[in-house]
Amino acid sequence: MKTRILISTILAAGIALPAMAGNQENVMEARKVIKQFATQLKGELKKAMKEGGPVNAISVCNDKAPKITDSVSASSGWTIARTSLKPRATANSPLPWERKVMEEFEAKKAAGADPKTLDYSDVVEENGKKVFRYMKAIPTGKVCLNCHGGDNVKPEVVMRLKSLYPSDRARGFKEGDIRGAFVVKKTL
Ligand code: HEC
Repeated sequence: MKTRILISTILAAGIALPAMAGNQENVMEARKVIKQFATQLKGELKKAMKEGGPVNAISVCNDKAPKITDSVSASSGWTIARTSLKPRATANSPLPWERKVMEEFEAKKAAGADPKTLDYSDVVEENGKKVFRYMKAIPTGKVCLNCHGGDNVKPEVVMRLKSLYPSDRARGFKEGDIRGAFVVKKTL
């Protein structure tokens, strides 16, 4: 009897442990994919800003951001996206669960959390398959204010943004605000 209890305890522990370890692994991998994506995007943005200022750099965000998203998605096997509670591109509008997570990020930030540390993960079933989902808050840095700031944004930038994004909501941000979030997903 005693042996039986012991065996079942070991079995239960044996089943639970790899599941936890697997999730931690997915979180680490998700962070790595995001880092790779963010580094590429920031690199392109800085280069374009240096070469021709913010008006020139708009094309990086407008044209290259979606391409970098596709190429990192293809090479990593993860689906990558960016979203925001105040999106510039309507294509980046949040899904209901993404909105909820970002609202939680805002509440945590209001309670004193550093936006750099805000993330979220879960596992859900989509079309009969288990999917690991991970979100990470994107803080607003100084360079971002060239195109996401308030009155400081240059008139020529405002004009270009207006023509590309008639329903732009991604203005009026301050340094340290949460600009949005990365969303990465992987079928398990
Ligand atoms: C040169 C102008 C410019 C700069 C500088 C800039 N952005 Fe953007 N940003 C854009 C444009 C244009 C889009 C829309 C991209 C698209 O069409 O997918 C965008 C979209 C985004 C999105 C996707 C959600 C949305 O609103 O559509 C996030 C998140 C974002 N930017 C964060 C940042 C951060 C963080 C920085 C600073 C590191 C930054 N941006 C700097 C122009 C800029």
